[in-house]
Amino acid sequence: MCGIVGFIGSRRALPVLVEGLRRQEYRGYDSAGVALVSDGGMWVRKTTGRVAELARAVADGPGGVVGIAHTRWATHGGVTVANAHPHLDSLERIAVVHNGIVENERALRRALQAEGVVFRSETDTEVLPHLIRKFYSGNPTDAVLRALEHIRGTYGIVVAFADHPEMLIVARNGSPLVCGIGDGETVIASDPQAVVEHTRRVVYLQDREMAIVRAGEVEVRGFDGGVLDLNVQLIDADYDVANREGFPHFMLKEIHEQPRSIRRCLLGRIQREDGLAKLGGLSMKPRDLVAIQRVITVGCGTSFHAGMAGAMAIEALARVPAHCEIASEYRYRHPIIERDALFLAVSQSGETADTLGAVQEIQLKGGQVMGVVNVVGSTIARTTGRGVYIHSGPEVAVASTKAFTSQVTALLVFTLMLARTRDLSLPRGQAVAAALDSVPEHVTHYLQNPGPIDQVVEVVKNARYVLFMGRGYSYPVALEGALKLKEIAYLPCEAYASGEMKHGPIAMIEEGTPVIAIVPMDDQREKTLSNLKEVEARGARIIAIHTEGDEEIAALADIAIAIPAVADFVSPLVTVLPLQLIAYHTGIALGRDIDKPRNLAKSVTVE
Ligand code: F6R
Repeated sequence: MCGIVGFIGSRRALPVLVEGLRRQEYRGYDSAGVALVSDGGMWVRKTTGRVAELARAVADGPGGVVGIAHTRWATHGGVTVANAHPHLDSLERIAVVHNGIVENERALRRALQAEGVVFRSETDTEVLPHLIRKFYSGNPTDAVLRALEHIRGTYGIVVAFADHPEMLIVARNGSPLVCGIGDGETVIASDPQAVVEHTRRVVYLQDREMAIVRAGEVEVRGFDGGVLDLNVQLIDADYDVANREGFPHFMLKEIHEQPRSIRRCLLGRIQREDGLAKLGGLSMKPRDLVAIQRVITVGCGTSFHAGMAGAMAIEALARVPAHCEIASEYRYRHPIIERDALFLAVSQSGETADTLGAVQEIQLKGGQVMGVVNVVGSTIARTTGRGVYIHSGPEVAVASTKAFTSQVTALLVFTLMLARTRDLSLPRGQAVAAALDSVPEHVTHYLQNPGPIDQVVEVVKNARYVLFMGRGYSYPVALEGALKLKEIAYLPCEAYASGEMKHGPIAMIEEGTPVIAIVPMDDQREKTLSNLKEVEARGARIIAIHTEGDEEIAALADIAIAIPAVADFVSPLVTVLPLQLIAYHTGIALGRDIDKPRNLAKSVTVE
C-alpha cells in the first residue's frame, strides 16, 4: 500500500526511481509520480494508473541526480493526477512523498488556508509541504522537525528541497522506511525490495526518527534533533524478488514454492524422534508454556484464516482453550485481556495497521503478545519483541498463498511445543512431528498432479454465485478459498461452515450453483457428506476436494479433486492448494490482473 523511493547520487535518478516504484508495484496503488531536483528547481510528473504510464511520461525527463517518487493507494481524495504524490509547497521548491495518514489534516488545512495557502489536491499529505514551507528559513532539518510537531497520525516521508540538492530529509512514525547506503549514492524506500538491487547495506528508520540523507551517507536523528548511532544492517539477498523463476505470475510461482517455504518454516524446529518442537524466538521454557491458560490468535484476512486453523489445532492437541479474533474488531471492542493468556499476532507483512493496533491494545492492558510474522524486522515483529518468523520468503503477489501455509505450519509447530508440556504423550508427539515433517512431500505430490482444475474453472467462471463449505479444519480453508476467488477473479462467493447450510445459505442454491466442498477424510466427513446430499438434491454442481481413494465422495461430486491422505490438523496445508489454483486459473480465464488485483494492497498500513 503506497510505495516510496528516494535517490541521491551522481548518476541519473529517474531510472532508479521508476525501477524502485516498479519493484513495489505489488503493494497495490492507483497512481504514481516523481519529483526531481533539476536546474535549480523542481521537475514533477504524475500519472494515474500503472508505473508503466509514468515511465512513458518521464522517458525524456532531465538528468537530475536527486529525486523522490511515489505510488499512491487512494485514501483521502479520488484517483487523480492532482492527488498523486509528490506534493509541493506554494513556491514549488519543496516536494514531499508520504505513506500513512495525517489524522488532523482538516484542522491543519483550515489553519493554512486562513494564512492564504491555496491547496491543489484533496489529500491529507499536502499539508506537509505547506507546513514545511511555513517553518523553512534555510535549514531543511529544522523545518521538517518543526512541521512534524504539528502532525498527528502515521507517516513515512521523504522531502526534497530545490535549495538543497545535496540532501534529502526522511522521517518515520508508523510507516516503514529503509535507507540503502551504496558507493557514493543512497537509495531510500518503503520496502527493501526497491533497495536491494543497488546495495545490501541498509539502515531501518525507527518510529520518531529522522535521517539527513546525502550521497552515500545517512545521519539518523531523534525528533529532539540529537544524533543517534547508525545501525547498518545487511539485507538478505532473498529480497531480490524481481525474478518469477519462469512462472507467468508471482502468484503461481508462490503457489509452487510452497513445498520449499513450508520446509523452511519447519527447518531446525522439529525433533522427530523426541516428538518435540522448538521455537527459539518465543524464549519460553516449559514452565512458561505450562502457565498459559488460553491462546488467542489475532489477524486480518488470510492471516485471520491461518490463525483460525492454528487455534483449532491448539485446542484439539494441546487442550488449551484457543480461538482467533479479527484484529480490526478486537482492537476496538474493549476486550478483556487475561493475564495468563498468550496472544499471537499473525501477519505476513508485519505492517498491517489493524493487527498492529490490536497488539498495542493488548500490550497497553498488560497482555502477553508475540508475533507470527514473515517480514523480518517489520513493525509487528519489533513491537512484540518475541515471536516466530514463518520464513516463507518475500511474498510478492497481492493474494497471499505461501504465507498462509507457512503461518499455519508455524502455528502447528507451536501447538506441538505447547502440547508436549501438557497431555500429549511421546508417541503422539512423534506422530504429530512426523505428520508435520511430511507435509512438504504431500504438497509436492499434489502440485505435480493437481486434478481437473480447468473443469472447475469452466463451471465457476460464469457463475452468479459460488458457495464454499467445510467443517472443522476445513472451515477456515473454505473461507480462504472464497477470499482468493473474490480477490483474483472478482466473483461473488461466500464460505459457510457446512452445518450452517440449513440455517440460511441453502436458499441460494438453484440448478447449477457451484458448491465447492472441502471434505477430507476426517471425523467431520460424514457430516459434510450429508450436507452435500442436501445441496445435490437442490441442483448444486458439486466440486469436492476429497482424500485420495475416497470413492464415495468422488462418485457424489460433479468434479472431484483428490488430495493426499494426511492427518486432520495438517489438512489445511493441502486442501487449500486446489483452492489457490482454482482462484488463479479462474482469474486468468477472466483476464484479471493476477498479481495486482483491483483495489487491493499488499500491505495494509492504514485502517
Ligand atoms: C489476502 C491477503 C490479505 C492479508 C491481510 C493481512 O490474500 O493477502 O487478506 O492476509 O491484509 O495482511 P498481513 O498478513 O500482512 O497482516
